[in-house]
Parts: sequence; C-alpha cells; structure tokens
Amino acid sequence: MMGSGTAVVEALLQGRSALGLDIDPLALRLGRVKTMPLDVDSLRQVGVRVISRAKALLSDLAALDGYLSARFDEQTRAFVDYWFLPATQRELMALALAIEEVPDRATYRFLELAFSSIIVTKSGGVSRARDLAHSRPHLDKTKIPKDAVDQFAVRLRKNLASIAQLSANGVMVVPAAGDARYMPFADRSVDLIVTSPPYANAIDYMRAHKFSLVWLGQPVGYLSQLRAEYIGSERIGRAGYGALPDRPESIIRQLAERDSSKAAILRKYFSEMQTVMSEMYRVLRDGSASIIVVGTSTMRDLDVQTHHCLADIAVELGFDVVGIAKRRLDRNKRMMPARFGKKGDSMIEQRMHEEYVVGLLKPETRRNESGPIQKAQGVTREYC
Ligand SMILES: C[S@@+](CC[C@H](N)C(=O)[O-])C[C@H]1O[C@@H](n2cnc3c(N)ncnc32)[C@H](O)[C@@H]1O
Repeated sequence: MMGSGTAVVEALLQGRSALGLDIDPLALRLGRVKTMPLDVDSLRQVGVRVISRAKALLSDLAALDGYLSARFDEQTRAFVDYWFLPATQRELMALALAIEEVPDRATYRFLELAFSSIIVTKSGGVSRARDLAHSRPHLDKTKIPKDAVDQFAVRLRKNLASIAQLSANGVMVVPAAGDARYMPFADRSVDLIVTSPPYANAIDYMRAHKFSLVWLGQPVGYLSQLRAEYIGSERIGRAGYGALPDRPESIIRQLAERDSSKAAILRKYFSEMQTVMSEMYRVLRDGSASIIVVGTSTMRDLDVQTHHCLADIAVELGFDVVGIAKRRLDRNKRMMPARFGKKGDSMIEQRMHEEYVVGLLKPETRRNESGPIQKAQGVTREYC
C-alpha cells in the first residue's frame, strides 16, 4: 500500500533495499519512476522532442480524430466525451502518441507521469471536472481548460527539477504491482514494514486516477473491476467474513443501528485489513517491527477508532503493540476526503486533523521445554 512511493523513496535515499506493493496503476507508475535511475539531461531532451512532435501532430486534425475514434472502446469513449472537450481530446491524443513513440522504457514512464499530472490535479487539470481529488468529480460546463501541450511543458519542467534530487545509489528498490492481501514475498523475509493503508470510508483513489489512466490505455470497464479490489472500497461482495476482536465488533454493531449498509462496509474494511495484517505477520522476520499510519474515520457521525481496532486485530494475530502515537496533520500537505475542515465542523470532523502511528512488533519465537517452536504471546502495552 505504498501509494505514491514515499516510503520506498525514503528507503532509497537512506541506502536501504526496499520492496513496495500497490494495486493502483497510477501509484505504481509514480513509485517506479521515483525509484528508477534516470538521466535528467536526456529526459529533458526527449521531453522537448515530444512537445515538438505533439505540436506537429496537432497540425493534422483529421488524422488525430481518426486516432481518437480507434483508441477507446464504447464505454471509455463515452467517459472521455463527457469529461474532455474535443479540442483537449486532440491535444491529449497528440501528446499520448508522441510519448508512445519514445523507445526507452524509463523515459517513456517518466513522460507518461508528466502527462498524467496535467489531468489528475485538485482542480481537475485539463478535464472539465472540478474537485477531482477531494470529492465526487462534477462536470463544470463553464470551465475552459488550459492548452494540454503547454501544461505538459510546465509539468515536465517541475518533474525534472524534483527527479534531479533523487539518485539511485546501488540499492535495490522494487515497487511491485500486487494485492497486499496476498503478498508475493516469502515467509520471514522482511525486516521492517512501514505502511499507510487506506482508511475506512476514505478517499476513492480510482475515481480521480481513471481520468488519466483511460489515456494511458486502460479501459473504464477494467478500472471499475480493479476498484472493487481496493481495501476500503464500498463494493460489498458475497464473501462471508470471520469474527473480529470485541472492539471492532462492538463498533460495527453500533454503526448497524444507524446504517446497516455502512456497517457492512466497515466489516469488510476491518476484515480485509485483518487479512493484510496476517500477511504482514507472515512476511516479517521474528523480532521485527511494523509501523502503520492511519487516520480517523467517521461513519454516520460515529468515530470508528480505526487505530484501536487495527491494534486489537494485530494483537489477535500475535503482534505486540509497542505503542500508538497521535500526529497533527498539516491540511495543506494532505489530500483530505470531502467535507474536511469546513466551517461548522463537528468535533468528530475536527479529529480528522489527526492521524495515528501504530507501532507493532512480531515477537521472537521461543522454544519451550518440550521442544517445538512456539510463538510468544501477543501483548498490548498501555497506549493512548
Ligand atoms: C493511504 S494510501 C497510501 C499513501 C502513501 N502512504 C503515500 O505516501 O502516498 C493507500 C494505498 O493503498 C493502496 N491499496 C488499496 N487497496 C490495496 C490492495 N488491496 N493491495 C495493495 N494496495 C492497496 C491504494 O492504491 C493506495 O495507494
């Protein structure tokens, strides 16, 4: 659940080997590009050539319209037509074609991200959407999007400046595609896990990311299927879930009295996190730590105490809870769910200015008198 790759980049900067895992195609692209060895000068040169090539392609609108009509399936076509003006579609098509002509894979990946970031922005970038990052996007018919090729040039300069600060120093950093519930890592192979999982009822990443992913060759239908696999997604399947510790069970019961479908979403979230944490336990070496950073969530005005519930689930799996610390959030540096920080916030919404850092330890295994290896008992220390 590495998201945009903050933890793997920090590992890289400190010369530590790291594995990152995420299910989201855009998060993966970000993580990969940030940890790839890239030559800034050659990226700049290719970037400039891509801009000229896109401008040249834009001189033949009939040809671009031909590419556009062959590019998308029917469902994706309807999505693109709804959210992008015809002129923007041509600009984006020209850029996408120019980028696809780049033969070097790493350079291509870098340019693809600059392309994506002219669409996925808080204001909806060159699409006709508003509030893309913060809430359900809505169509703004009065919005006049900026020229996509100009925006690409601006973004390219910014991304080149930030990539210049990163340098691969011989360590192995691998951002991999995968589901945290089924990690492709061997038992007891990991020394430390640092992760910020999705929160219950929080940001729907795919809702914004599909705006650029459709242009990177991913059909809307496939992206909707993938969205159901995200932890915390609101799509409830028919899968039955096992029992949870007392605290999450009691919170789910309280929520069910207010809203039974929200209670089902919360059960799904805690159960999925139970599976993830059991995988974390499996891949961690004995005596190793796991740090989980998680925010608060309120559902129907009920604080679901995610940090305490995850700690209780962890204890049941055999972890020791070393402690839980509270951290104030800088609103300006974080993408927050809708309704965050508005006037007249309830006390519960005020609490969304905080997040919690849960410290877990997989105990050393110990040998008892009669021989077989036994897991040490999970303990919970005093915490907030
Ligand atoms: C809170 S974000 C992580 C933010 C991250 N700390 C960062 O620096 O950007 C949660 C991440 O979990 C990912 N995720 C959701 N469901 C997942 C799953 N089943 N397997 C792996 N990753 C998943 C999302 O794609 C998202 O990138």
